[in-house]
Amino acid sequence: MLQSIHSTLAYVVLAALVIAIINSFLGLSAKRNFEKKDRSFALIALIFSHVQLVVGLILWFTSPLGKEAMSQMSNSAMRLTAVEHPLVNIIAIVLITIGWSKHKKEDSSNGKFKKIAYLYAVGLVLLLSRIPWSLWLAK
Ligand code: HEM
Repeated sequence: MLQSIHSTLAYVVLAALVIAIINSFLGLSAKRNFEKKDRSFALIALIFSHVQLVVGLILWFTSPLGKEAMSQMSNSAMRLTAVEHPLVNIIAIVLITIGWSKHKKEDSSNGKFKKIAYLYAVGLVLLLSRIPWSLWLAK
C-alpha cells in the first residue's frame, strides 16, 4: 500500500513543483507583486514534498528495494532505489525547504520569486535525476 501511495504521490509532487516553479519564473519576468496565490503554490509543493519524504523514509525501512537492497550494491537498479534515490531526494527536499524559508526573509517580490524559482528548480532537477523511471513507468 505504501508503495502505491509513494508511486501516486510522485505525480502530485512533481506537478506541484512544476506549477510553483513556472509561476515563480512568470512572476519574476512580469515583475509583478508576490501575492497570496504565489505563496500558496509554493507552500502546496513544499507540503507534498515533505509528505513524500515521510512516506519514502518508511518505505525505505520496509521495502525489499530499500534498506534490504543495500546488500546488493553492485546491482545498479538496487543501488538506485536503496541509496541514490533516497539520498539525492533528501538533498533535493532540503533545497526546496531552504527556498521556502529564504523567500520569507526577502522583502521584495522579486527576491521572493527568485528564491522559490531557483531553489525549487534545482531540487526538481535533482529529483528527476534519481527517479527509478523503469520501475515507475512499468506500472
Ligand atoms: C519528492 C521526493 C520523491 C519522489 C518524487 C519519489 C518518487 C519515487 C518513485 C516514482 C518511485 C518508484 C515507485 C514505483 O515502484 O512505482 C520511488 C521508489 C522508491 N522510493 Fe521514492 N521518491 C521520493 C523520495 C524518496 C525518499 C526521500 C526516500 C527514502 C528516504 C524514497 C524511497 C524510495 C524507495 C525505497 C523506493 C522503492 C520502493 C519500492 O518500489 O518498493 N523516496 N520513489
